Amino acid sequence: MPVIAFANSKGGSGKTTSALLLACALAETKPTTIIDADPRHPISTWAKMPGKPEELSVVTNQSEKTILDEIEAAATKDPFVIIDLEGTASRLMSYAISQADLVIIPLKEQQQDALAALDVIQEIHRDMKATRRKIPYAALFTQSRAAVKSRTARHIAAQFRDNPKIDTFDVEIHERDAFAAIFSIGGAVSQLDPKKVNGLRKALENVEGFRSEVIYKLRGLTSEVEGRAVA
Ligand SMILES: Nc1ncnc2c1ncn2[C@@H]1O[C@H](COP(=O)(O)OP(=O)(O)OP(=O)(O)O)[C@@H](O)[C@H]1O
Ligand SMILES: [Mg+2]
Repeated sequence: MPVIAFANSKGGSGKTTSALLLACALAETKPTTIIDADPRHPISTWAKMPGKPEELSVVTNQSEKTILDEIEAAATKDPFVIIDLEGTASRLMSYAISQADLVIIPLKEQQQDALAALDVIQEIHRDMKATRRKIPYAALFTQSRAAVKSRTARHIAAQFRDNPKIDTFDVEIHERDAFAAIFSIGGAVSQLDPKKVNGLRKALENVEGFRSEVIYKLRGLTSEVEGRAVA
């Protein structure tokens, strides 16, 4: 039932890649739907290739007019719903955010991505006012270097990690061949051939770390709601 939306109005911040990595990892254990609301439909294209996990359904968004119905139908059917949003601020993005149990804001360790992430956070706060409910969100650094970081990267990461008002994932999605390869080969990272793709073991560990931190955050949010109900 949890609805997880990936939003950042900056193009190329890693929304589609991290949304698909999470969707495939969740679908290993539970039926999961991913709604492809990126107008170029990269996930729908990926789904036409062999290897899509059996428990993963891909829904191609029709328009901003249908997004709410698509989310409702998927949330009724499956334990997890992921939404991959377009790289511009839009009414569709607000609609999806208004339905989300968790908004993940992917960003590279670059100034433009960071500024766009802050814009999305402001948008989430407006949507909270409009819907009069709390919408949890967390920033996720993507395409980061696994080894030594540049000074700029460290500075931008610190601005988020040291800000007590912004929740930021401990895990980062590193820049990895495997994460780009799935879009040309099809299937999940776990199905890639270690002889053909570099650093596959590290890539799998990275995805598992991401999946488990998402589950940890969702559990925390559920117990917060239950705690309020008991109090
Ligand atoms: N962790 C990663 N490792 C390697 N390549 C990556 C990673 N994340 C993203 N990329 C590559 O960077 C490009 C942009 O990533 P992606 O499509 O996920 O971003 P996006 O936020 O969905 O973009 P848009 O706003 O255009 O929808 C793609 O070519 C993708 O393959
Ligand atoms: Mg995208």
